[in-house]
Amino acid sequence: MPRIVRPTSYGSPDVLTTTEVPVPKAAADGVVVEVRAAGVNPIDWKLYSGSFHAVDDDHKDAAGIAASMPAIGLECAGVVTEVGADVTGVRVGDEVIVHPVTAAYADYVTAPATSVVAKPAGLGWAEAGSLMLAGTTAVHALHAAGVGAGDTVLVHGGAGGVGLMGVQLAAAAGAAVIATASERNHALLRELGATPVAYGPGLADRVRATAPRGVTAAVDFAGTDEALDVSLELVADRDRIASIAGSPRRAAAGVKLLGYGPGQDAGTAIRAAARGELAERAGSGALRVVVDTTFPLAEAAKAHEVGLAGHAPGKLVLIP
Ligand SMILES: NC(=O)c1ccc[n+]([C@@H]2O[C@H](COP(=O)([O-])OP(=O)(O)OC[C@H]3O[C@@H](n4cnc5c(N)ncnc54)[C@H](OP(=O)(O)O)[C@@H]3O)[C@@H](O)[C@H]2O)c1
Repeated sequence: MPRIVRPTSYGSPDVLTTTEVPVPKAAADGVVVEVRAAGVNPIDWKLYSGSFHAVDDDHKDAAGIAASMPAIGLECAGVVTEVGADVTGVRVGDEVIVHPVTAAYADYVTAPATSVVAKPAGLGWAEAGSLMLAGTTAVHALHAAGVGAGDTVLVHGGAGGVGLMGVQLAAAAGAAVIATASERNHALLRELGATPVAYGPGLADRVRATAPRGVTAAVDFAGTDEALDVSLELVADRDRIASIAGSPRRAAAGVKLLGYGPGQDAGTAIRAAARGELAERAGSGALRVVVDTTFPLAEAAKAHEVGLAGHAPGKLVLIP
């Protein structure tokens, strides 16, 4: 029987449970995909940690979320096994990348056909399954901050899944890239076209020393107070600071807030439109998907423990 991994209650990764379920059926406008790799993202553990529930308690209660736990796994890659009656352009047997999707921590997943992009032949399953959430987020952030040729952009959290995408895409767009990371990830960031700096006390001075002519834009993939404070100190124009973390301080500072929370711009159209080019770049090798570790599907909890520790350079991926 096919398996699915779901949280059974709010809590830490030990609430993740593998259960057996029938192969799902495709909706008329959807497909069924046999999953070969599912990307792990912080949103997956945030969904069942209770952090969103606590923030938005009334709404969640009204929506009955506490009674019915969220499915997790917002991206994957695999092989199409069924196509809905109204779907054109996707066939059984196609190798595809699927995002956005829910419940991708599974052997089979259903998705709207609009979530499917062809997997480039040269791209590995693990890389394909973990490209899109981070990649589309990075595209959105760089777009929001207006990053392009001639810019010097500060990328906070440069060694994370989103950061490694942001670093490469900003460099490819012709920007000079300064990226924050711990020392052990500096060589990787240099390889990908960035000048690394260590985060922590003194960050603003280290960035100034690296970019004596100044920083023109900042993208915050770390979500820390330091990332906000240093961005505000170094970038004169607040419209050129974008953050993937929402917080009252960020909202009050007037920086661009990206995501799905209150006051954040979800960038749905920009993110959807970016998928084709991201696949093409990753397939040609122009964009590297750095996979840190793969785990068997049944070890999703272990993957989340590693993710929660907060220092995986690149993507964590589940392999059914
Ligand atoms: N709003 C949105 O649409 C959206 C979309 C995607 C992700 N997100 C959020 O964005 C954040 C990053 O996502 P991700 O997938 O890139 O996470 P990730 O891959 O788990 O990020 C891990 C990286 O964070 C770095 N890091 C840890 N502490 C840091 C600090 N104080 N300063 C700078 N870097 C630090 C680590 O680098 P070192 O090992 O070098 O310390 C590590 O490589 C998460 O909070 C996620 O929920 C938001």
